[in-house]
Amino acid sequence: MSHLRLGVNIDHVATVRNARGGRDPDTVRAAHLIAKGGGDSITAHLREDRRHITDDDIRRLKAEVPLPLNMEMAATDEMVAIALQVRPHAVCIVPERRAELTTEGGLDVVSARAALGPRIARLNDAGIQVALFIDPDPVQVEATKQVGAPALEFHTGEYCNAPDLTRAKELQRLEDAAARAAAIGLEVHAGHGLTVGNVGPVARIASVVELNIGHAIVAEALFVGFEAAIRQMRAAMDRARAPSAVTAGRHRA
Ligand code: PXP
Repeated sequence: MSHLRLGVNIDHVATVRNARGGRDPDTVRAAHLIAKGGGDSITAHLREDRRHITDDDIRRLKAEVPLPLNMEMAATDEMVAIALQVRPHAVCIVPERRAELTTEGGLDVVSARAALGPRIARLNDAGIQVALFIDPDPVQVEATKQVGAPALEFHTGEYCNAPDLTRAKELQRLEDAAARAAAIGLEVHAGHGLTVGNVGPVARIASVVELNIGHAIVAEALFVGFEAAIRQMRAAMDRARAPSAVTAGRHRA
């Protein structure tokens, strides 16, 4: 199976920094540790209210760290302008509501098609890979293709939060939606709420090529250090993706 990339979301490094102002902990220092821990890219969400990552973080991450930068953002003209100026490797377009604690649910691409289309086109033209953050819903998958995005990221929150009884059903939704997305030529990413304990079944989905994970890594980093926390997640993903684990997964009841 293809290498499963790990994008490490460093929003909450900035959350801790912003609790006191100043520069510590420094997001650029954290980003330099991502590759050492076995991560592949930096993910950072520049929210409209700048509650954690700031414009300065985004500029420094792009200028000072050699890893690919995946900028999460709402589909606003302000954010598109910043992306076109900073030129991250990729953007992931997410829905944003000011009052939410974190990104709750995926984009409704069907209703937002008119607003998304031209903005995606400008990002595509600039050579920035665009992914849309959507729920594992076949209707949203088709709409993502139609609106011109080459990639999508499945919101894994429902799977992660599901009680044991319905978790298998949520996983099946992810597997079906990922298969459909890959069949119509979309690159498939996933993320939100993933931990060392629950990442395995998602990492085993063959068409998923990238996971973006933040909170669990930053939380664990308090106890074991940032590089070690990334390494733990990398190991959990690799265990799940190993050929023997994939074969075992296929035979699960
Ligand atoms: N992917 C997207 C699009 C997100 O908005 C977030 C949360 O900021 C994540 C991944 C990472 O989620 P978590 O912090 O729960 O790992």
